[in-house]
Amino acid sequence: MKLSVAILISGSGSNMVQLIKSMDNNHPAYPGVVISNKPDAAGIKKAQDLGIPTEIICENSHKSNGLVFERKLRKILNRYEIKIICLAGFMRILSKDFVEIFKGRILNIHPSLLPKYKGLNTHARALASNEQFAGCSVHLVTSELDGGPVLAQSKISIDKTDNVESLSTKVLKEEHVLYPKVLLKFATELKNL
Ligand code: GRF
Repeated sequence: MKLSVAILISGSGSNMVQLIKSMDNNHPAYPGVVISNKPDAAGIKKAQDLGIPTEIICENSHKSNGLVFERKLRKILNRYEIKIICLAGFMRILSKDFVEIFKGRILNIHPSLLPKYKGLNTHARALASNEQFAGCSVHLVTSELDGGPVLAQSKISIDKTDNVESLSTKVLKEEHVLYPKVLLKFATELKNL
């Protein structure tokens, strides 16, 4: 039986689209649901256009109460019998307890060569540090922000003419290739367990 994947987003969802498209008939997993914590995330319409169920958990009403948010999230994950969670531009930190429940089954993509530049504004920081290389990493999610074991990375050179915009465009292109590749390997291994 195929494994059901939840893709969690907060924004444009370009990685989400690539993940969805990669899960074709021969893939061991399928996109069960796309979940957003932002009602206006552009990715929601993209998921709907691709025929994937979507759910919104409204952030504002739960700002002061992460427990309520995560209870709702868990309900949705159960309803769609989710086996793998892919964070794809999901701008919310999941609690230690939540991560523990789904231990080893949550993936994230981060736009830096981890362990360098965890957190936000990765490209600006890489440029400010005169780095020669940039890239992206897919890692397992643990309770440490962007700190879980790295599963794969893609590395590119930073040109002298690069700015935050050009660099993020180049890295995003790499993300779109790397994330589906890692998900395929991860889902294949999980299915064969
Ligand atoms: C990507 O750069 C990803 O690495 C980061 O957030 C961005 C999301 O972009 N975590 P998108 O929503 O997939 O277009």
